[in-house]
Amino acid sequence: MSDPIDKLLDAAESGKSIIKNRDILHFTHIPNIILHRDSEQEQVAQSLLPILKHSRPSNLLVYGKPGTGKTLVVKKVLSKIQERVEKSNFPIKLVYSNSKEETTLYGLLVSLGRQLNLNEKELPTTGLAISEVFKRLLNRIDEEKLNAIFVIDEIDYLAQVALKTHNDIFYNLTRANERLKQGSLTLVGISNDLTFKEKLDSRVISSLGEEEIVFTNYNVEQIKKILEERINEAFIENSVEEPALNLCAALAGGEHGDARRAIALIRVAGEIAERQQSNKVTIEHVRDATKKMEEDKEETSLKSYPLHEKLVILAILKANGSSTGEIYSSYKNLCKVVGRDELTQRRVTQMLSEIELSGIITGRLIHQGIHGRTKKYKLTVSSEMIKNTFKDDLTLQDIV
Ligand SMILES: Nc1ncnc2c1ncn2[C@@H]1O[C@H](COP(=O)(O)OP(=O)(O)OP(=O)(O)O)[C@@H](O)[C@H]1O
Ligand SMILES: [Mg+2]
Repeated sequence: MSDPIDKLLDAAESGKSIIKNRDILHFTHIPNIILHRDSEQEQVAQSLLPILKHSRPSNLLVYGKPGTGKTLVVKKVLSKIQERVEKSNFPIKLVYSNSKEETTLYGLLVSLGRQLNLNEKELPTTGLAISEVFKRLLNRIDEEKLNAIFVIDEIDYLAQVALKTHNDIFYNLTRANERLKQGSLTLVGISNDLTFKEKLDSRVISSLGEEEIVFTNYNVEQIKKILEERINEAFIENSVEEPALNLCAALAGGEHGDARRAIALIRVAGEIAERQQSNKVTIEHVRDATKKMEEDKEETSLKSYPLHEKLVILAILKANGSSTGEIYSSYKNLCKVVGRDELTQRRVTQMLSEIELSGIITGRLIHQGIHGRTKKYKLTVSSEMIKNTFKDDLTLQDIV
């Protein structure tokens, strides 16, 4: 038997990799061909067209389920307009930012400001009031007579943050033109949460959604075509078996046609195949990829819980029974061991319902005649997975 490390290194060196270009499978890659989205590309371009004639496009909202090509299409349209802007000397500024990546409103505004070339001195990364940051953005637009388009991707996240802290930001953004003496600002919002508008003020809804474009779901056949295109570029010829491709398309196309999930599946399947030194991606590799992605998701969600939620999950694992009361006494014990004050039973009961929403545990109501009813919980993930995930947490090390 050759050394397993050598075997892997040999394979890598001799170029027997079946993935010839990994970057193409990354979610940020912009493919040359965008399939099934001609009409959406036209609509977005049409809507932003006035900018090339120096007039202000309407604010635009782009909607659609995850992985339906919204970010891709909007970015492509932006880059096409940008190409033309660069050839001319139009004072046009196209600016893109993702609210999920920026996490705070301040961060998001600074990221927009940097793209308007405001430097650290003109717009410091921390320390100003939001209204001041906003004023500086508008001043820049005014001074340079810019026609600016702000694209805010995953704008529903901004809505969540803003509603808690600065709920006038949407109003200010959408009505900025009333404050500008020169230049203009158009807002393009992208969202996969079709209900997010309901949370906003009605004045904002009408100005934010002056125009709306909805991206429809891909069907299995369309997902398959998108995958084929990507596979041709990323994998060496004939290395993905037809049934493997079909299964990926069926799995990702089944619900609402999530192209991101389809591409991620074939990437993970490809990596598993490579690790096994197989020269084909088979249906088995795709099945393993689904499992791995599911586990990764559970692991990420387990890791992201705060300490007491983690203790509650461990309490279920260790409880002598599965009723809320039994879980609570097990939780109290664990708190003692790790030296933390316990939370009330009421709070823990509430936590159990919250954790249930993530799918890591399931609950079942049990009627006990005259004793009323109680809820029993059990884990849906293996205890090994929980232990493995929590053992990196220093506070929990002694109890897992
Ligand atoms: N029509 C298409 N042709 C080729 N690739 C596509 C197409 N639609 C989506 N993709 C690819 O699928 C992935 C997801 O697309 P995109 O990021 O645009 O989704 P989205 O609608 O913005 O989703 P989310 O709401 O989750 O942000 C990307 O890798 C993108 O390149
Ligand atoms: Mg997106």
